[in-house]
Amino acid sequence: MSTDAQLNLKTRKILFVSLLVLICIVLVYAGFQKDRPWVVPVEVKKLKNPIASTESTLKAARGIYMDECAECHGEYGKGDGPKAMMHSPGPADLTDARQMNTVTDGEIFYQISEGRKPMPSFKKRLTEDQRWGLVLFVRSFSQPAAVTDKKPDRSKDAAVSSKD
Ligand code: HEC
Repeated sequence: MSTDAQLNLKTRKILFVSLLVLICIVLVYAGFQKDRPWVVPVEVKKLKNPIASTESTLKAARGIYMDECAECHGEYGKGDGPKAMMHSPGPADLTDARQMNTVTDGEIFYQISEGRKPMPSFKKRLTEDQRWGLVLFVRSFSQPAAVTDKKPDRSKDAAVSSKD
């Protein structure tokens, strides 16, 4: 009888400890999921944007953004699109200059190309040029002077010569 009780106690202890361990694993995993860093290959990280930032490329990119991205990332990149709250982790605030300055163009390009659940991959749906255009457009959220909704004060097409 006493050995039975002891055994019982032992089993319960083991169960209890395993439960604790399990909870810890789940918590750590959840925390890790929340801000797991994007792993971007070095050579992609270093890529330079081949597309020049002109009014027309930004305008085209804006159109794509409104169609493909705004539902999650929000019209102004705040991560507050109508679908954003259905997702965890949610999209980051693309207007946060401090955060955006820590990523290279290549990284943004990679993020758009590959996606990561729940964000879809756009490698097949958009051409490389379109994705690079989106990189410029996404950047413009954290550089408010550059863009977006303001009426262009030059009505002529500035596509060809931007500065030099
Ligand atoms: C279904 C919703 C959804 C759509 C559509 C979507 N995204 Fe995302 N996007 C997300 C989520 C959620 C994350 C965060 C994923 C993570 O950190 O694991 C993300 C991440 C990003 C990031 C990295 C910064 C961050 O938020 O962590 C960039 C840049 C980005 N998306 C750009 C775009 C662009 C450009 C498009 C359109 C071509 C797009 N996304 C379409 C949901 C979406």
